[in-house]
Amino acid sequence: MTILVTGGAGFIGTNFVLDWLKQSDEPVVNLDKLTYAGNPGNLRSIAKDSRHELVCGDIADSQAVSSLLAKHRPRAIVHFAAESHVDRSIHGPDEFVQTNVVGTHTLLAAALGHWRSLPDSEQDEFRFINVSTDEVFGSLDADAAPCTENSRYAPNSPYSASKAAADHLVRSYFHTYGLPVITTSCTNNYGPFQFPEKLVPLMTINASERKPLPIYGDGKNIRDWLYVSDHCSALRVVLAKGRPGEVYNIAGNCEMTNLDVIEEICTELDELLPGNSSAPRRELIEFVPDRPGHDRRYALATGKIESELGWKPEETFATGIRKTVAWYLDNAEWLEQVTSGQYRQWVDLNYTERA
Ligand code: NAD
Ligand code: TYD
Repeated sequence: MTILVTGGAGFIGTNFVLDWLKQSDEPVVNLDKLTYAGNPGNLRSIAKDSRHELVCGDIADSQAVSSLLAKHRPRAIVHFAAESHVDRSIHGPDEFVQTNVVGTHTLLAAALGHWRSLPDSEQDEFRFINVSTDEVFGSLDADAAPCTENSRYAPNSPYSASKAAADHLVRSYFHTYGLPVITTSCTNNYGPFQFPEKLVPLMTINASERKPLPIYGDGKNIRDWLYVSDHCSALRVVLAKGRPGEVYNIAGNCEMTNLDVIEEICTELDELLPGNSSAPRRELIEFVPDRPGHDRRYALATGKIESELGWKPEETFATGIRKTVAWYLDNAEWLEQVTSGQYRQWVDLNYTERA
């Protein structure tokens, strides 16, 4: 048996593939377009592992996806591939519609063809896991209860709107064609291999180099934070025990303001990397103009996955952020590779005009 992972050279996909091969001998075929966010170097530790095959390709390429499915006949697809950064979706939404909506639909249609070709017993076991986000529910008021799996969709950014569209297509393939799909909605992940355009790695590397820490708006926007290996364990549980047609929320039960997240990163770095300066790194914080349409708060209720599937996160923010900051300090070579060239253009585009 084999599973197909899409986007397995990106942040969460990499962690999923590495964790998967630590706990299972089942092979993984990894389909990734290797955009700026996909990095084959992430998978260097399994380069010689015959259980893993990295295939460079686009989920929106119907022929390539169908022939990959016909060749490997996977018993499941875990779909991570996406354009994933809200700020990039504001500067250029087209790619988000192309990959997240058209790409997900192309993958679904190919998955349906593959599923129909399987014998009945294998059809029953087949799963399509659609990895989605809390951002599809839109912004919550400070005193509102966290969103459940039945909350109304209200996406506000081109990114979240494209993920919401994908979720609706996934749902329709269950109701219309019977394809055994499951959607997971997850809160903000952090951990090793995250591309340094997102809050945690960006602030970690800037603070480690004593560069300014650009906080959008007043810094009081709230996100729930989940260490990436906990997301991966939740997805394994959903794949093994989740019910087709259902949605499962995944979260760290750890709501924090952006200011609190950054201060915690600064405290870790002051301890791990004191250097010559005794000035606390939190003094590097700079308030910059806000992200357009910036959602104030996201939060998810996790009662369903806890009671139905018995999943809970293992890490707290304190333990997870310690591991994360240490990983970035220990992986200077990785960082240098991903922050060259194109990355600088992004930093110029997103931050120079704010300054
Ligand atoms: P990422 O940007 O780090 O990685 C995305 C990967 O998808 C990259 O390897 C990229 O090369 C690949 N990719 C992009 N377009 C592709 C295409 N057309 N065909 C094939 N591969 C393509 O993203 P991530 O943070 O690892 O997120 C993975 C998934 O989890 C996404 O679907 C995202 O919406 C979802 N998610 C992320 C978070 C988070 O906090 N990062 C939270 C909830 C949900
Ligand atoms: P991000 O990591 O981009 O994730 P998302 O927007 O998907 O939640 O941002 C997390 C929060 O941090 C969000 O409220 C925006 C804020 N932020 C900043 O204040 N400064 C930054 O430079 C970045 C990248 C994000």
